[in-house]
Amino acid sequence: MSELEHAPGLTLRHDYFGDPAAWKGLVDLLQDTFSIDIGIQDRFGGPDPTSMPFGYFDGEGCCVANFSAFSMPLLVNGRAVKAAGYQSGAVRPEWRGRGLYRDLMRRAFARTAAEGYELDILLTDKPALYERYGFRILPQHLFVARMPKLQASGSTARQLSLETPGDVRLIKTLLQSRQPVSSRFAVVGQMEMFLLNACFNSAIRLTALAENAVVAWTFDGATLWLLDIAGTAIPPLATILSALDVEPDRIEICFSPDRLDCEVSLEPYEGYTVLMARGKAADEIAGPLMLSPMAEF
Ligand SMILES: CC(C)(COP(=O)(O)OP(=O)(O)OC[C@H]1O[C@@H](n2cnc3c(N)ncnc32)[C@H](O)[C@@H]1OP(=O)(O)O)[C@@H](O)C(=O)NCCC(=O)NCCS
Repeated sequence: MSELEHAPGLTLRHDYFGDPAAWKGLVDLLQDTFSIDIGIQDRFGGPDPTSMPFGYFDGEGCCVANFSAFSMPLLVNGRAVKAAGYQSGAVRPEWRGRGLYRDLMRRAFARTAAEGYELDILLTDKPALYERYGFRILPQHLFVARMPKLQASGSTARQLSLETPGDVRLIKTLLQSRQPVSSRFAVVGQMEMFLLNACFNSAIRLTALAENAVVAWTFDGATLWLLDIAGTAIPPLATILSALDVEPDRIEICFSPDRLDCEVSLEPYEGYTVLMARGKAADEIAGPLMLSPMAEF
């Protein structure tokens, strides 16, 4: 018996983002499932063009299930790795327990395997779902920085706004030409999630340093969280701190800080989701790491 005989009347669609009604179907599915609006991406040029969505649609065109892969090249210990990320996994409650998700996962994994991806990564609050496909949890760490010696700020810092077209252009340009924020574990190129994550959390500040780096950070008056840096070169922590003009009691760096020229201590990171990986490049991932919150997907 085919797995999907329990789900009559559904049509499988893949690579359907070119159809605005189908894209809207996914936006609605994720709104209803996770209360997030990925339709915000339409303001910035639409969804990631590397997306490989697989979805089931009912007779009314409603998206009842989806699982997407996308290209997320990573730098892992100095080597550019062809990695795929998986996201937007959801099944509407009335269609659950019939094997739809299993079917979509298998299709997406077969596609990325056929395209030669050497690493698969995902974030989930349900690791058991993916362990049976060979995914393993990668423990993440926060890097607590020793306070650097501040310098007289030579660079000009400017607060950016996603409401200002010129600022969005600058951020996009820097995301396209960025030096990965870490050589140990970092995204090489990915624009859409950075912009979406910045929209989702209004506490995130985006500050341009000398127009060649954008620092994503939050500050609660005591702790500064350094979330990501999209720049043609990564400035040292002391330069960043001097330019941001804040005096935190504590600095937590949310990515591997090897390019920041600073001393750090480690703390295990307990997030709502865990980072999981599989594939032949997974063994190359070693040592303490964190996926920047701006790259979360
Ligand atoms: C999780 C979810 C996608 C499963 O969809 P589904 O169509 O009911 O799943 P399937 O019937 O295809 O089951 C696939 C497998 O996952 C297992 N599974 C289902 N829900 C699970 C859960 N919450 N935790 C762990 N495993 C689960 C099933 O037992 C099945 O295992 P098997 O292949 O060994 O038989 C769906 O419940 C959902 O949309 N939940 C809310 C959103 C969510 O959590 N998405 C995943 C984000 S990482």
